[in-house]
Amino acid sequence: MAPGFFITFEGLDGSGKTTQMRRLQAWLTAEGRTVTSLRQPGGTALGDRIRGILLDSRSETALGGITPLAELALMFADRAQAIAEVIRPALERGDVVLCDRYTDSSEAYQGGGRELGAARVLALHRAICEDLQPDLTVLLLPDLATSLSRARSRNLRHVQHTGADENRFEREDDAFYQRIYDAYEAIAAREPGRVVSIRDDAGLAVVEMRVRAVVEARLAAVALP
Ligand code: TYD
Repeated sequence: MAPGFFITFEGLDGSGKTTQMRRLQAWLTAEGRTVTSLRQPGGTALGDRIRGILLDSRSETALGGITPLAELALMFADRAQAIAEVIRPALERGDVVLCDRYTDSSEAYQGGGRELGAARVLALHRAICEDLQPDLTVLLLPDLATSLSRARSRNLRHVQHTGADENRFEREDDAFYQRIYDAYEAIAAREPGRVVSIRDDAGLAVVEMRVRAVVEARLAAVALP
């Protein structure tokens, strides 16, 4: 087993996980830990190109859009590269690795949202990620309506400011997001040892302290270099 500690953040778009991950990174660094952080899709040069294809709502094909299976395969291509280039080397050095989304996102979005099924996603995880599992997953799951309204207004602002189009997923309907929500709940129920869910929307500072407490307790139980 690699000596580092692997933490992933999961949740719907607009759940606040990216902000919480940044705050945790700042705290861990201040505590003297060496942290490597990345997001998926993305996190490597190849991954950033794959991200562009996956999130751009103008990604068109002869069939209209990207098919669900092609989307799933691209998510795993991105992940395989990130594992080889960033995650494994960092864990081998003994870093704390923070990853904004990982295989649970594929299980929730492609398995649940796109209705490809969890079994297919988990089989790919075993084959392509060599079953590399996070030591801890922080799942932020405030109610669906709150996440959705935040994600939609944020994306609009982002497009207005940067002209970047990353809203292929935000264009989906509420039923798609409900399936994602349900899939996340199923993952949390199946793996209570790995997944810590924070469900209420208690505000940034309160959630930050809860995340910190969980991470502190888990790190105390392992000896990092
Ligand atoms: P991102 O801008 O990172 O969203 P957020 O800040 O909300 O995490 O966009 C990532 C999008 O890609 C998000 O809508 C979820 C989706 N996604 C999948 O569908 N499957 C996956 O395996 C991953 C990693 C992301």
